[in-house]
Amino acid sequence: MAASKPTEATRADGDQVRGQARDQARDQARGQAREAAVEAALGKLDLDAKARLLGGRTMWELHALPEIGLAPLVMSDGPIGVRGVRWTADDPSVALPSPTALAATWDQDLSRRAGALLAQEARRKGVHVLLAPTVNLHRSPLGGRHFEAYSEDPYLTGVIGTGYVQGVQSGGVGTTVKHFVANDAETDRFTVDNKVAPRALRELYLAPFEAIVANAHPWGIMTAYNQVNGVTMTEHRHLVNDVLRGEWGFDGYNVSDWMAARSTVRDIEGGLDVAMPGPATVYGEPLAAAVRAGEVPEETVDEAVRNVLRLAARVGVLEGAEPAVRPEDLPAEIDGEALAREVARRAFVLVRNEVRDEVRDGVRGEPGDGTSDGTRAGASDGTRDGEKREGSRVLPLNPAGTVALIGAAARDARVLGGGSATVFPARVVSPLDGLTAALPDGTLTYVVGADPSDELTPADKGFELRAVCRDAAGTVLGEGSLPTGQVQWIGDDLPEGVTHEAMASIEVVGTFTPRESGEHAFGTRGLGAFTLTVGGQVLFDGVQPMGAEADPFEAFFGSPVDRGTVALTAGEPVEVSLRHHLDKDRATPLPGVMFSFVHLGPQRGAEELIAEAVEAARGADTAVVVVATTERVESEGFDRQDLRLPGRQDDLVRAVAAANPNTVVVVNSGSPVELPWRDDVAAVLLGWFPGQEGGAALADVLLGAEEPGGRLPTTWGDLAAAPVTRVTPENGELAYTEGVFIGYPAWEQAGATPSYAFGHGLGYTDWTYESMAVEGTTVTVRVRNSGARTGREVVQVYLAPADAGATGRPARRLAGFAGVEAAPGESVEVTVELPRRAFETWDETTGSWAYRSGRYEIEAGRSLTDRRLTETLAV
Ligand code: BGC
Repeated sequence: MAASKPTEATRADGDQVRGQARDQARDQARGQAREAAVEAALGKLDLDAKARLLGGRTMWELHALPEIGLAPLVMSDGPIGVRGVRWTADDPSVALPSPTALAATWDQDLSRRAGALLAQEARRKGVHVLLAPTVNLHRSPLGGRHFEAYSEDPYLTGVIGTGYVQGVQSGGVGTTVKHFVANDAETDRFTVDNKVAPRALRELYLAPFEAIVANAHPWGIMTAYNQVNGVTMTEHRHLVNDVLRGEWGFDGYNVSDWMAARSTVRDIEGGLDVAMPGPATVYGEPLAAAVRAGEVPEETVDEAVRNVLRLAARVGVLEGAEPAVRPEDLPAEIDGEALAREVARRAFVLVRNEVRDEVRDGVRGEPGDGTSDGTRAGASDGTRDGEKREGSRVLPLNPAGTVALIGAAARDARVLGGGSATVFPARVVSPLDGLTAALPDGTLTYVVGADPSDELTPADKGFELRAVCRDAAGTVLGEGSLPTGQVQWIGDDLPEGVTHEAMASIEVVGTFTPRESGEHAFGTRGLGAFTLTVGGQVLFDGVQPMGAEADPFEAFFGSPVDRGTVALTAGEPVEVSLRHHLDKDRATPLPGVMFSFVHLGPQRGAEELIAEAVEAARGADTAVVVVATTERVESEGFDRQDLRLPGRQDDLVRAVAAANPNTVVVVNSGSPVELPWRDDVAAVLLGWFPGQEGGAALADVLLGAEEPGGRLPTTWGDLAAAPVTRVTPENGELAYTEGVFIGYPAWEQAGATPSYAFGHGLGYTDWTYESMAVEGTTVTVRVRNSGARTGREVVQVYLAPADAGATGRPARRLAGFAGVEAAPGESVEVTVELPRRAFETWDETTGSWAYRSGRYEIEAGRSLTDRRLTETLAV
């Protein structure tokens, strides 16, 4: 965003204003025509049809109403891909990096492009509405779905979420911004009553929703499972009808989180338009009956139907109504693999990059020489311009050097987070794949080092499985392929020709070709009768009974059970089968089947694995260790107990770092983990769940073809010092006692030092902050690329009120930012407009926003703790 000449700028501005006015007039005319079509369709429906439309027909679809030319609206989970209506790999989906990663790009335009790609995916799969984005906040690092939300900062969350919604909807596909509101942890999520004071609710948790409604006009919102201040969110008349629709002017549809709707009357009166899923529903017949009984006015139902028909019109499934985006206005085809790779490398956050140990490198690197493409990298954490140490930094790697790649996740990368966000990509590029392709032959060695998981997980690598469904007489009804050993069929997501009524058993059957020789353990996860056979040997034939907790989700989230081991030889296939007999009498919340065929490869001693890694590290110029979380410690449905890396991974890193001073650690986790060895290694790269192209992107940045572009969207620190750690309700209530102090404001308030501050992230060049000018609320910052290669800087602007303490405000908050690219030596200007909201607080006495006049420091810099320029502003 270099400064342009005023004359050109003026002309461009004029064109832009005229263009915007034209677009607005066109949108207004189309909006009026759409409303007329919606009213006409509504007028033709009787009460039963209207009530039917508001309850799901299946897990993902609404009913069609042919009498008004309405096709079934189809929904599907996001947020990192579009799964479609089936839990299968038969129709794969592009898997983008985790939402935490998207937020780490600090780039609204990239988020918009990601959204446009997802719209393209949705259209390909016949999906009209994406159940995304998730814009809850990182209140506590223990939140199980932290990876699925953007940031601890409401402003950054709003900016990224706005781009995402604009992008998806530019492709004519609806969004469902979720989970409205304060669904910031998983423990007892169906029932927890979150006690949130109005100020924190407005300034933090509602803020991203408000910004997205104002700036991106989402076509949908999803109301959460939890309660807020005593009222279940699907029934929250005040927050839905008064605030979301009334104050903010939201005109989209409101769908319940899956199975969150519990009361016909309270839900419809609370502004819930659609109760999902179906066919069992509190709407449909019960809703029509409630109207007939005089418990609900028909106009209330009409209002909800209007919202659904408007959505249908927008996405083009209501005949006679023009869609929001005409086919000829759809964005150009996007290359999904290329975009997934771009987002990943732009999201990687390099938090530490020390000088290489040159002695070790022998002739390869003379002190201070850098490499030919100018790898003299910028300040590592805390180090400022002018304090640079001599020598080239460990990253990017010298492509001629040898690399020891270590870690189970380097081979079997964890590219996406678990739960409803799961999609099945057509391919996954692991770090091993990516580096093998990018490095010259013979320069890369790989060892496991440590396995983060020591329990059985759904059969995956080496398995070729399909599911065969039979009726009670043993006749095959149908079969389908399985991406892993996990069977998860809910509602009518069943193989062709199969129904829940007719199906009596399912057999997961196929072959397993082991990668390693030794004792392989096999087992089951789920409830009921199982027969497990490996290589003709029956390992288990019995029943797994329901545990004492009687949780219907036990089958999905429950523990795997080891049923025995078989000695196998690497490369030699063996026949495997797990037959599951359905218990027709057991009540489940939805018609569905959930169980898994689980496996664990030969377990070598932890010490032996670490010793092998040390050996490999000693023999290479650089050691790259990939550490990771597992689905058992970071996923939907539960919160984390601690922030430690599972298994012996910390010991592994320590041992490798002691053997090779040029140790680079890549962290493969969706949310913060503790890095107790962080000061003992040469470089730390936070890689998130990097999506299907993660390994290719990793090779790009490790070898310097691209710089890592991310900045932390959330503070990374140790749990012991973290400000908000309570996510478990007491007596059904979870009090947000910290008020507006979550994330970096809370760390600052406590005077605690995290591992890595909000906004921190290094590239491969240096930046000098030259000047800042403030005119009104327009801030202009001039920065110079003072390093030796082209790079991208995220200029961050913080606002620090002089009377922060007296007004109960955080010492400073992010008020704006801008990304800018520059060539070596080039000086560029960015302009950041401070939003009015940055100067406001929610006044609990008047119940309105209060503009806080007074003196503010405006601080521009590289991160929360690396602020380079300050100006004073009085408003
Ligand atoms: C999740 C939602 C998701 C829905 C449908 C729920 O359990 O909370 O985010 O969209 O399931 O899969």
